[in-house]
Amino acid sequence: MTERLVTAGSAQLTVLPVTGLPEITTGADLAGLIAAAALAGPGLQDGDILVITSKIVSKAEGRVLRGDRESAIRAETVRVVARRGPTTISQTRHGLVMAAAGVDESNTAPGTLVLLPVDPDGSAETLRKGIGERAGARIGVVITDTMGRPWRAGQTDSAIGAAGIVPLRDYRGQADTFGNVLQVTMAAVADEIASAADLVKGKTTGVPVAVVRGLGGLVTDAAGPGAAALIRPAEDDMFRLGTADVLTARRTVREFTAAPVAPAAVRRAIAAAITAPAPHHSQPWRFAVLESRESRARLLDDMLAAWQADLTADGFTAEQIARRVRRGEPLRRAPLIIVPCLVAEAAHTYPDARRNSSERTMFLVSMGAAIENLLVALAVEGLGSCWISSTIFCREVAAGSLGLPADWEPMGAVGVGHPAAPAPDRPARDPGQFTLRL
Ligand SMILES: Cc1cc2nc3c(=O)[nH]c(=O)nc-3n(C[C@H](O)[C@H](O)[C@H](O)COP(=O)(O)O)c2cc1C
Repeated sequence: MTERLVTAGSAQLTVLPVTGLPEITTGADLAGLIAAAALAGPGLQDGDILVITSKIVSKAEGRVLRGDRESAIRAETVRVVARRGPTTISQTRHGLVMAAAGVDESNTAPGTLVLLPVDPDGSAETLRKGIGERAGARIGVVITDTMGRPWRAGQTDSAIGAAGIVPLRDYRGQADTFGNVLQVTMAAVADEIASAADLVKGKTTGVPVAVVRGLGGLVTDAAGPGAAALIRPAEDDMFRLGTADVLTARRTVREFTAAPVAPAAVRRAIAAAITAPAPHHSQPWRFAVLESRESRARLLDDMLAAWQADLTADGFTAEQIARRVRRGEPLRRAPLIIVPCLVAEAAHTYPDARRNSSERTMFLVSMGAAIENLLVALAVEGLGSCWISSTIFCREVAAGSLGLPADWEPMGAVGVGHPAAPAPDRPARDPGQFTLRL
């Protein structure tokens, strides 16, 4: 929710530090202390925006812990976005993506940690009311914290809570000075205010509050949408998967929605698949993409008939056959099927069977690497997949049904679609149990 403002920003802006605040402790009357300090300093006028460092809000709200930093970060994290060395970037339950989930050891007594306020927009509204009443002024409040930017060196302050201000100024649909209609511009004014205030607050000078004067056009009577409006919804986040979770994003998905799969997403996933390592500098991977309902139905019907005939001939009961057939059913429910195929023409031939088998193994493992790349890339696109053995057990039938070139060997079939539900949590696995350290 954003408000559209017709007016542009003001011509002049003043940022004034609020000094003289005592060290804030749990239970402090923060609104009273800030109001007194502001009135003794720059004063408070209608249209002023008070910018308050989240650290003192947290301290007043008792969000100070003694204990282990890593445990505190884990407790505050809903999703690890990236990890490198000792640095963890995580998403907090507020939706904020921050280093160490906002857990901070600076500007607090040794051995203590400060967590973010539980509800920064709610805290901003409480302060707006408390300070506004004491000052008799119509003010806005922004609560800030320091954040890094993935593509820029250095940190800036951003708004994590806000009340009584327009957090995003929406220019979409307005014309620029050349008459071009702006398509995407939304000014994150609450973040700009937070950064401007940081220029006078300073982390080492003990000035946690500043007054921004001159932006009365952004101050509103109602609490407004708060800084929550600045959190990009997951579906609009092109960088949702961080480096920590790309490789684990793939899960076998067996239920799909009816939404079609974009051909461009499949093309990108195949582009990722064909970067797999392969023996003899070969490129042995091919992909039959079954876009038409008819091609999918033909393949699945032909395979079903072949499995039933095979299993019956092997003496399986009707119930055993039904159970095995059910394993392939996710393919029926998928809006797209990709049949990965191996072309092992580059394999060397040797006089002995053992070396020929090793040679084939090299191509098979390369195919597995390519398919894993495909599945991970589909997951990055937000698509679910299920790689099902299927065609491996009836290669000729599948190849005939699809009319594949003679040297294409089907390596299962991958059902692809938009997942009907989020995947369950992964079972915990200890890498040590899978590793022999020599
Ligand atoms: C070669 C191969 C064949 C598979 N065949 C089937 C299958 O016939 N039916 C099925 O539901 N899943 C099949 N799977 C998926 C596995 O059941 C799945 O990978 C496993 O349960 C682990 O879950 P995850 O992929 O979410 O980690 C197959 C996986 C591979 C690699």
